[in-house]
Amino acid sequence: MNHISFTNGDAMPVLGLGTWKSQPGEIGAAIRQAVEIGYRHIDCAWIYGNEPEIGAALHELISEGVVKREDLWITSKLWNDRHAAEDVRGAIETSLQNLQLNYLDLYLVHWPVCLRKGIYLPTKPDDYFTLEEQPLAGTWKAMEDLAEAGLARHIGVSNFSKKKLVDLLPQVKIRPEINQIELHPYLQQKELVDFCHHSKIGTTAYSPLGSRDRPERLKAEAEPVLLEDPTVIAIAKSLGVSVAQVLLSWSIHRGSSVIPKSTNPGRMKENLEAASLSLSTHDMDAIGKLDRHRRYISGETWTLHGSPHTLDSLWDE
Ligand code: A2P
Repeated sequence: MNHISFTNGDAMPVLGLGTWKSQPGEIGAAIRQAVEIGYRHIDCAWIYGNEPEIGAALHELISEGVVKREDLWITSKLWNDRHAAEDVRGAIETSLQNLQLNYLDLYLVHWPVCLRKGIYLPTKPDDYFTLEEQPLAGTWKAMEDLAEAGLARHIGVSNFSKKKLVDLLPQVKIRPEINQIELHPYLQQKELVDFCHHSKIGTTAYSPLGSRDRPERLKAEAEPVLLEDPTVIAIAKSLGVSVAQVLLSWSIHRGSSVIPKSTNPGRMKENLEAASLSLSTHDMDAIGKLDRHRRYISGETWTLHGSPHTLDSLWDE
């Protein structure tokens, strides 16, 4: 499988397993199956609520000799209520304990949104800190300390706009190495992807299949269904592969890594095989024309209940 390379020589497999929405009770078995069929990159986050079960499965797989720790790439993310510099180390230690690991390959600032400690989802104005009250650069400094302490081999961000990166970069000692963002043919974010790659920041595509299983409260009425796109269906038919495989391959061809979520053994295998699918320039161009700037993860959650944020200030567009 191809990799995203880092300046120190480390390499992240381009296709990883997403774990958001993977249910407790089924994620452990899915991790085992994934590793057994060849997944080596697993994307986690504290807020997904399933790290302990993932950790138990990883521990078993490593102790049984199915996989070596050093052959796995494990990512996790700092939740929004732990942005204060003094909380960042405790947050990664909790994820490490959950995952039964002594280092992460990659630790990301999950959102450019700060909440009061103990607030997982905001319900009142008081739950928020503004970015002036708790600047992202302060959180980043604490992330750098984690990298220097060896708790995270690489550090990065998620859901950061070009503007937020441009503001942050002059203040950093260690540059963010990854920006994990929503990317798929309906949300191509070309300017942001180009900026990241030009700035030596890798990109990881989340919700690459359109995230149909996300909670109803995050869905819009009559939203377009990525997996039913006629152009992508036609390309999949012509190649004799699945629609999901075309979507995943498209992200990889753009130089991003991609983390489709599945807990279904057949679909996990299908998704992994997309890493070796080749798309022609003609097919890439046809998919390139499908952009409609459609966010499935709109970010609206962070603009409600007296939030200091708006969608404009969140995405800077
Ligand atoms: P399941 O977990 O039952 O396989 P995203 O990665 O964009 O968040 O999308 C995840 C959703 O896509 C889940 O509902 C998942 O269902 C489904 N999914 C994952 N892989 C495939 C596939 N190869 N074909 C169709 N649907 C898929």
